[in-house]
This record gives sequence, structure tokens and C-alpha cells, in this order.
Amino acid sequence: MTAATDTAVLAPTDPAGVPRRARLLRTELPGPRSRELESERRRHVTDGFGVTLPVFIDRVEGSLLVDVDGNRIIDFASGIAVTSVGAANPRVAERAAAQLSRFTHTCFMVTEYSSFVEVCRWLNEHTPGDFEKRTALFSTGAEAVENAVKIARSATRRPNVLVFDEAYHGRTQLTMAMTAKENPYSLNFGPLPGSVFRGPTAPAHLAPASDTGALVASALAGVEAVLAEAGAETFAAMVIEPIQGEGGFVVHAPGFLAGLREIATRHGIVLVIDEIQAGMGRTGTLFASEQDGVAGDITLSAKALGAGLPLSAVTGRAELMNAVHAGGLGGTYAGNPVACEAALAVFELLEDGSLLAGARSIEKAVRDRFEPLLAHDAAGLASAGIVSVRGRGAMMAIEFGDASGPRGDVAKAAAAAANAAGVLTLTCGTHGNVIRLLPPLGIEPEVLDEGLAVLEAAISGALA
Ligand SMILES: Cc1ncc(COP(=O)(O)O)c(C=O)c1O
Repeated sequence: MTAATDTAVLAPTDPAGVPRRARLLRTELPGPRSRELESERRRHVTDGFGVTLPVFIDRVEGSLLVDVDGNRIIDFASGIAVTSVGAANPRVAERAAAQLSRFTHTCFMVTEYSSFVEVCRWLNEHTPGDFEKRTALFSTGAEAVENAVKIARSATRRPNVLVFDEAYHGRTQLTMAMTAKENPYSLNFGPLPGSVFRGPTAPAHLAPASDTGALVASALAGVEAVLAEAGAETFAAMVIEPIQGEGGFVVHAPGFLAGLREIATRHGIVLVIDEIQAGMGRTGTLFASEQDGVAGDITLSAKALGAGLPLSAVTGRAELMNAVHAGGLGGTYAGNPVACEAALAVFELLEDGSLLAGARSIEKAVRDRFEPLLAHDAAGLASAGIVSVRGRGAMMAIEFGDASGPRGDVAKAAAAAANAAGVLTLTCGTHGNVIRLLPPLGIEPEVLDEGLAVLEAAISGALA
């Protein structure tokens, strides 16, 4: 094990006397070496990939990304909710390295290995739903979504799929069609596959906590209307994120997911819960839908499942998962053995419970700092302010607006200032007016506090 992967063996201070577990800016961001590499990138990599902060990372120490100029950047992104156990977790490295030295690949459709089965067993036991399950492993989140639709269609022999406002499900052809926002995800990439219909949601932040009943009732009536128009009996699946990620960290009002569960059951539609961003401990429970008391017929996992190694899973009722003809599912790299070992390490780490507790303390720290800054009456705001602080666990968001509506410019300016100050922060939302915080679940409290203080200053600057 090297010093780069084990923060415990690092000296408490670096040669400049700065605590190892602290943000450090040796240069402006991006620094000179990152700028050089960026110009290489521009020469060789397609411009079709965007980048939040063009710095090149050399290694990760705890929750700090160390760049090629020696800057230490606080990670509030976790590679978009992937490295929840840390991007240099020694247990993940150990299990993956041991597997690398045994073999890298056989293709599970050719000859088998037990880690694949072990990952499926753990997911069958831990995903919501007290029924017999089976799991299929793939590589990316979008692939899991695509396969869930294939399975639901095969099991129901129905064509249509219902998705929701603000949804994000990926960048493949079908998942582009399922994703709500056109720019950048599907702009100029059409025609997109058909048979995809979109229903309304009931975002909790749009109604006072004491009075979400009407919002939920109206959204569920809207869902029924969309189903009725195409014929409810033509729908194979209804796919929903338990907390919507790219769409703005939208938490559904209490009762909305349970209402969808009831509608799906009544019409024989497969309820697919896309836990790709919100699952694997991110919201303080293993799966976010647990907190709504709802179990999908199929639950999707990816991102944090493999701790950065590509792994995704479709876990569902045995009779659905087995309805597909033999040979109908698979993929060359599906359930790669190194990624499976990483997932088994993630399970060990999550079972200890401290990471779930870590997620809950992150929520408390974010609420304690930003809720006092909340402008309670957005409609009356003459200038921009924070109009919502929301989320669960280590999936928290700060939304900006004023009387005229969403203020993406403020979110963008605040995130850019935080990034320049060495706190890596992402934005999201249909209007780009939401800053989202996705730190590793075990982020050191002092690093979290420092990062939040920097972000608060960045927000004050952007609002001034
Ligand atoms: C809820 C959700 N579903 C699906 C995906 C697609 O996953 P991937 O990028 O691994 O294909 C994402 C990615 O952000 C996601 O957040």
C-alpha cells in the first residue's frame, strides 16, 4: 500500500507546515502544469466532453484531490456521486489489486466467477422489497436503465415507458429520450426512440411541509391522465429517481412515491426505482426509497456500487428478471471481476454503519450552515437569494432564485468562485440554478466545515 492510498500513514503536516487534511492552494486553479495538460487535451480529446474544473488530478488523499501542481482541493463532487467511500479507499484498492493479479476478465457469459454471484446475492438481500429477487450486472448506469426497460417489456409484452419531469437516466439513445432536459443531453442527437411518455412530479420544496397533500394529489392525477391517454395497459414500466439528481436534487413530497407504487400495481406496470445516484448509502440509508417506505419491482444501482470501477445492477422480482429468454441479457464487460471485488469492498464498508451516519452528519452540517440564509419568500425577493436548501444525507442542494424566477447565473458564479478557491462544487437543475453537494460519506468533519465555509463565502460574493 502506498502513502497515496493510505492517509493514515501521511505525516500530519506537509513540508510547508500546512495540515495534510486541509485544502491547500500552491498556485491559482488551474495551475501551470494543469494548463499545459489542458492544451494537450484540447489537441487530442473531443470538445464534446465538458469539464467543471480543468485541473488534472495526480492522487487523492482522504477527501482531498491533489492536482499535478500540488494543490489540494476539497471534493464535494465524488466524481458525481461515485466515490462515496472515498476515491482512494484502501479496502477497495486491496480487493481490486488482489483480483487484478488473479485475472482481469473472463466474460461472465463465457466462464463464471463467484464475486459476480456474491454481488448479486448482497443486492438481492439489501435492496428494498420483501420478495424473491434476482440481479443482473452491467457496467454503466444507462446500461442498467436500458436493461430494466428490456426486462419490463419482455415480462409484460407491453411497449411504453413512463418517465417524469426533471428526470435524468443517461446518455444512450433510449435514456436520452427518458431524460427530461434537452440541452446538453440530447440536443441535435435525434431522432430519439419513441414509446416514452412523461408525467408530472410533486417536488416537496414547492409546497409548505404541512401542506403537500394537494400537490401530491394533483401530480398523481396528472400521471393517471398521461397513462390514460396512451392506455395504461400499454405501459411496461414507470421509471423514477427516488431523489432526482441532475434535475435539481428534487425530493418528492411525502406520499408521491407511494402513490406511484399504487398506480403501478393497479395497472400491472413495473415500477423501476432508479437509485443510480441516490443509492448505496448516499442519503443516509442504503437505498433512498427505504425512506419513503416504497419498494420498486426493480431497483437500479450503479455509480457508488463499484467505487469508481464501472459496475451497475438491475435487481428485481425473480419472476420479472427470469421472464427474459436465456441469452437475452449480457454484455462483454457486464459485472467485470475487478469491479465486483470493489463492490464487495463497498458492501463491507457500508455494513459497518459509520458511512451512513457520516451521510446524516453531512446533511446536518449543510442545513445548519445554509438554512439560516434561506429567503423564505422567494416571490418577494427583489434580488437573488437562496430559495431552497434540500436533499437528504450527503445529497444536498442549494437553489437560487428571485421574484423573476430561477437564477442560474448566481449558482454558476458561486460554484465557479468555490472551485477557484479549491472546493470542487457542481451545479444541476433544469435551469442550472442549483449547487449540489456530493462529498464522500466519510469526509473528515474539519474538511467538510472548511469546504462549507468557503462555499458560503463564494455564495455571499455571488449574491452581493
Ligand atoms: C439517476 C441516474 N440514472 C442514470 C444515470 C446514468 O448513469 P451513467 O452515467 O453511469 O450511464 C445517472 C448518471 O448521472 C443518474 O444520475
